[in-house]
Amino acid sequence: AISETPNLEEMVSVSHVPAASREVTILFGSQTGNCQRLATGMARKLEEQGMHVTLAAMNKYKTNGLKKVENLLLVVSTHGEGEPPDNARALHEFLYSKRAPQFDNLFFSVLALGDTSYEFFCQTGKDFDQRLEELGGKRLSPRVDCDLDYDEPVAQWSARVISALNERLNGGSTAAAAVQAPAPESSAVQSAYSRTNPFKAEVLENLNLNGRGSDRETRHLELSLEGSDLQYEPGDSLGIYPENHPELVDAIIHELNFNPEEIVPVNKNNEQGSLRDALLKHYEITALTKPLLTQAAELTANPALHELLAPGNEQALKEYASGRDLLDLVQDFGPWQADASRFVTILRKLPARLYSIASSFKANEDEVHLTIRAVRYEAHGRDRYGVCSIHCADRIQPGDSLPIYIQQNPNFKLPSNSDAPIIMIGPGTGVAPFRSFLEEREELGAEGKSWLFYGDRHFVTDFLYQTDWQRMLKDGVLTKLDVAFSRDTQEKVYVQQRVLENSKELYAWLQEGAHVYICGDEKHMAHDVHSALLTVIQQEGSLSAEEAAAYLNDMQEQQRYQRDVY
Ligand code: 2AM
Repeated sequence: AISETPNLEEMVSVSHVPAASREVTILFGSQTGNCQRLATGMARKLEEQGMHVTLAAMNKYKTNGLKKVENLLLVVSTHGEGEPPDNARALHEFLYSKRAPQFDNLFFSVLALGDTSYEFFCQTGKDFDQRLEELGGKRLSPRVDCDLDYDEPVAQWSARVISALNERLNGGSTAAAAVQAPAPESSAVQSAYSRTNPFKAEVLENLNLNGRGSDRETRHLELSLEGSDLQYEPGDSLGIYPENHPELVDAIIHELNFNPEEIVPVNKNNEQGSLRDALLKHYEITALTKPLLTQAAELTANPALHELLAPGNEQALKEYASGRDLLDLVQDFGPWQADASRFVTILRKLPARLYSIASSFKANEDEVHLTIRAVRYEAHGRDRYGVCSIHCADRIQPGDSLPIYIQQNPNFKLPSNSDAPIIMIGPGTGVAPFRSFLEEREELGAEGKSWLFYGDRHFVTDFLYQTDWQRMLKDGVLTKLDVAFSRDTQEKVYVQQRVLENSKELYAWLQEGAHVYICGDEKHMAHDVHSALLTVIQQEGSLSAEEAAAYLNDMQEQQRYQRDVY
């Protein structure tokens, strides 16, 4: 009997159990730190249950130890087009290789994090789950796939795993285990505020960093953390709960012929508010996920939507969903057979947006700075707006406040040794965390050399934080700056070209133990910069392609090659 609601009275003692079977290994694969935090929370809960927990990042765990593991929990997110996060890649490869062991005594369970607006939803978790079974493992409890709003499914997974472990320890007795509410999210700082209880931060500044005539708009926001007890380290991110565009909200309500003041549920906990408020602040209305379309089909007889969801039409469905929003859906597939309260139940919770922090806390006590590019484009005959960036750019002024939280990122950190050289590659808004890195080093009087590669479209209008870099060059906290402005010359130049042009010196820095950081666009930039780094290492180290790849892999394992990409 597994109860999904906490019931402490059902707690079962586990004190007579042989020590060996209480060993639980938890491995996490995490890009932004979510899985690491959840795995750490799970470890703490299991320890409270009397288990002996080994907790490690997937790339820090010696794979030859796996064969002896009896209870294995994997917590892993999926990145990009169904790929494992950086620190999960090696284990993923290992399990799919010939070297993978046969598991005779393994019980396992997978917690997968993902986003239903991506085609390969939770793919990495699915891979691990399937592969462990193929290798002979048995499921302790079924895999749980989480969408962005993961608190509830995570709590369920934890409860089921704990219950299953306790059942095994009790020799198959069916007694329910103690099921506790999820532990509060860990945070190095003692603040009452978190992702589930955001702080309303006052906006102190909101400036456009781009010069007149630029085709881009990048906001520099300064927020006050005063009174929150929130702190952060360079490399951490800030989560913002935005509001949807009021014009889009009004158009949807109008199209559905609903009353904006009607009272509807604003979340799954039965809290209520006006329909207009619900669509402005609580529900996502800008992405068409497969679960949303499937649930919408229950509310309309329109054959076009049913056709789109029919087997064999996956490609057409994907094309339809791409770049469209709830207004398109409502316009295209009516008439709708639902009242407002029923209609909102098909919507996903409006997720927070994460931005890499652009300031050092030590250098700006009780402030946090952000670099946010305004996203505006046209698609399917209508102007479209990035939810959070346009909320900040168009509707937030100094004196207003934004609900925020700190998201620690253990995978993007300055070297603990402040003498170590750092190489930072961050075109566009990817430069944000490097402002934080350098401010921090300036504040601490760090001695290590630093090198920044920056790029954007035009030197005159798009050189973000130019005066900061110049000051830092002058006072020595920034040793070298190389820039690539892609649209000032006939031929495009990108940061990776600057990397290649400086190959000798860059390799010398690597040999001196430099840490390399990439921040910004993943699909194109980070990929191309990665290739450029391989070329530099291969060429200057006189290495083969395989040896160069191994060199960069080693750097990654030593946390000397870190990426914050999106
Ligand atoms: P572009 O838009 O002129 O092509 C920040 O957005 C900067 O990154 C811009 O100068 C942009 O150039 C550039 N950029 C685009 N694709 C890139 C890639 N594959 N590698 C590096 N920089 C890229």
